[in-house]
Amino acid sequence: MMDWTDRRCRAFHRILTRRARLYTEMVTADAVVFGPRDRLIGFDASEHPVALQLGGAEPARLAEAARIGAGFGYDEINLNCGCPSDRVQSGRFGACLMREPGLVAECVAAMAAAVDVPVTVKCRIGVDEQEPQPALFAFADKVKAAGAAALIVHARKAWLEGLSPKDNRSIPPLDYALVHALKRAHAHWPIILNGGLADLDAARAHLDQLDGVMLGRAAYQNPELLIRVDPELFDGPAPVADGFEAIEAFMTVVARGLERGERLHDYTRHLHGLFAGRPGARAYRQVLATEAVKRGAGLGVLREAVRLVSRGGAGLDFKQAAVA
Ligand SMILES: Cc1cc2nc3c(=O)[nH]c(=O)nc-3n(C[C@H](O)[C@H](O)[C@H](O)COP(=O)(O)O)c2cc1C
Repeated sequence: MMDWTDRRCRAFHRILTRRARLYTEMVTADAVVFGPRDRLIGFDASEHPVALQLGGAEPARLAEAARIGAGFGYDEINLNCGCPSDRVQSGRFGACLMREPGLVAECVAAMAAAVDVPVTVKCRIGVDEQEPQPALFAFADKVKAAGAAALIVHARKAWLEGLSPKDNRSIPPLDYALVHALKRAHAHWPIILNGGLADLDAARAHLDQLDGVMLGRAAYQNPELLIRVDPELFDGPAPVADGFEAIEAFMTVVARGLERGERLHDYTRHLHGLFAGRPGARAYRQVLATEAVKRGAGLGVLREAVRLVSRGGAGLDFKQAAVA
């Protein structure tokens, strides 16, 4: 997610789950080919398994960017066909590519020929006036035939005319049943569901019918939910017991960043969602918002913020406890 899942965020999320696949922010193929690569797509070995998401619509350029990404060690290269922002439309990529499955297929074929790692696609169920069922099914047929290893479907349309990118993540209605129907038509091709999955229970409910689930906002805004991913979805041990342990482990990563001259806030901005519902969580966020942003702020600020959070129970108030 752009501006959210940068490498610092991913390093933190990897502390919470060893097994979930992490995705980069979308990076345009042009930026990968011509831009400051290390800064844009460099990542830490601890992030594996990690996928690089590319934006673009030129097969040769995307193939070159995919090759560069694979050279950096990414485990998967994903092509964005779901982003609705104006900037992206003017570059003729993102969700508007739902209208051009033939071109997307050329892009996928070129990328798949350039790398050994899986090339996947993330899409919507349609855009604007498109009828989702035929649009999505035709799109899926094309990209599968071109060699896409999996399709991630954000189960709502993008309305390119008249909705902001933010509204496009909540206003067009979700249609999970359509994604389930797509899966029934592709028994041996991985289909992953995304969109509106608020927690792990909601996500898990789809796993008997689909190959995977992708969580966006819920994982970012409530990162502690990721601690349950390994035990509940992968049958492995939880890497940490709670948010306190996760922050303790993250301190080492943050310390290395501070030594390189990065700012505390670059890291702590991804930690605001922790401890929701616990007494002291508001004070914790306030310290992060007011103190961690200051130039020269060090680990002591983060420690102070965490100290304000109660280590007791999950912080249910009496009303909630009574309803439960
Ligand atoms: C701040 C933000 C940035 C996003 N950036 C990207 C992006 O770079 N690439 C992408 O495929 N989707 C992006 N998305 C969309 C999410 O990946 C996801 O498809 C969408 O939010 C619906 O899933 P969710 O309800 O689990 O969040 C972004 C969403 C948000 C909130």
